[in-house]
Amino acid sequence: MADQIQPVSGMNDVLPFEVGAWQHFEACTSELLTAYGYEEIRVPIVEHTELFRRAIGEHTDVVGKEMYTFEDRGGDSLTLRPEATAGIVRALISNGLLRGQRHKLWCLGPMFRHEKPQAGRYRQFWQVDVEAVGCPGPDVDAELIALSARLWQRLGIAGLKLQINSLGTPESRREYRSRLVEYLRARESQLDADSQRRLTGNPLRVLDSKAPQMQEVIRGAPLLTEYLDAESRAHFEALCSMLRSAGVSYEINPRLVRGLDYYNRTVFEWITASTGAQNAVCSGGRYDGLIAQLGGDATPAIGFAMGVERLVALLVAAGRTPLPTGPDVYVVVSGAHAAERALELVERLRSERPTVRFELNVGEGNFKAQFRRADKSGARLALIVGDDELARGVVAMKPLRETSGQSECPIAQLASGLDAALAAVGRAGDVPLV
Ligand code: HAM
Repeated sequence: MADQIQPVSGMNDVLPFEVGAWQHFEACTSELLTAYGYEEIRVPIVEHTELFRRAIGEHTDVVGKEMYTFEDRGGDSLTLRPEATAGIVRALISNGLLRGQRHKLWCLGPMFRHEKPQAGRYRQFWQVDVEAVGCPGPDVDAELIALSARLWQRLGIAGLKLQINSLGTPESRREYRSRLVEYLRARESQLDADSQRRLTGNPLRVLDSKAPQMQEVIRGAPLLTEYLDAESRAHFEALCSMLRSAGVSYEINPRLVRGLDYYNRTVFEWITASTGAQNAVCSGGRYDGLIAQLGGDATPAIGFAMGVERLVALLVAAGRTPLPTGPDVYVVVSGAHAAERALELVERLRSERPTVRFELNVGEGNFKAQFRRADKSGARLALIVGDDELARGVVAMKPLRETSGQSECPIAQLASGLDAALAAVGRAGDVPLV
């Protein structure tokens, strides 16, 4: 036997029995985003490497260590997108869609980061990304956060905690950064290897370290909030006040810094205790400087992205996933003539009753085997297309979940006969949640 080809490490299949939960998550999310006035955008999975270098920052883990970068056949350096914000901003600029206009956009798709795979952390993972472009005030920050809070409610996911912080302006951050570097340099011997590396490139990320030996150093570090400029402070206070009046609970985490360089002012994360170290299910913030940095007209913006695998895992754990949907009608075929006519009959019914789900028995099988398949399929009704019945110009119908017996219906009135039979067996309507 030939060797089996293994999947790429950290890249997962979503199997048919798992897809229902994904579709439920996607449907709830897109419905809510539409209700808040967000429009879907689809951007390429591959972009010029330079886009991510410039947007996310050379010294971030994502650009420094995690990108899937390759040279294409024309010699261009391309990268599988590690996140969606940069591509969406690029699309707004290259399609001339800025010019003082506002945009409320969302995008669903796979992202790629060469991280160390573990539960909840993958190399290909899906995000729903949401971006509000063109509004500088804290009102849009508050509404975006309220939107995410409402989504957890709709999905039935409890126990998520919101952490927020303000990173201030690039100037106030620069001042804080030099104060932090001073503090960390004085304790260099206590830093782990990762933090020593970050000290030169991205010292704020030292505050993100989960290493136990770093926690005391981090606890004593100066706080970014103490260096905020007056406008950023006012923006943050207004955001907090709006969240309180909208009834969204939050915790201020002065050490929340985020791993991508484009943020300023508001940053936030929804975290859960139940997925271990990979506890952020939704994170984002304001990026007022990014659009100009990528060559567009200076435009303020804010957004967030949700990790679909992590949220779907919470949905499944909470038992909030839809029951699998089988066919309404299973079509049993008996005899050579019937085998020739069955497809034609079922296709006609599919045209006449487009919302009914039919499963036609294919691959033959005796009567008993076909009824076993029919039972397993979850259908409530079997249609029996047999040589004997066809000879008499009828098709037989048999409820599969009840003891009531078999009946017959003339082929000429099959569609209306089917309506009556389905009504009698109570065709499943909306998909219930388990
Ligand atoms: P991020 O924090 O890098 O932000 O990712 C957002 C979310 O994606 C995380 O909270 C997490 O749920 C999920 N995620 C990240 N990495 C992985 C992984 N390796 N495996 C599974 N899930 C993962 C961004 O990507 C920003 N673009 C968000 C944003 C939009 N900021 C402004 N607009």
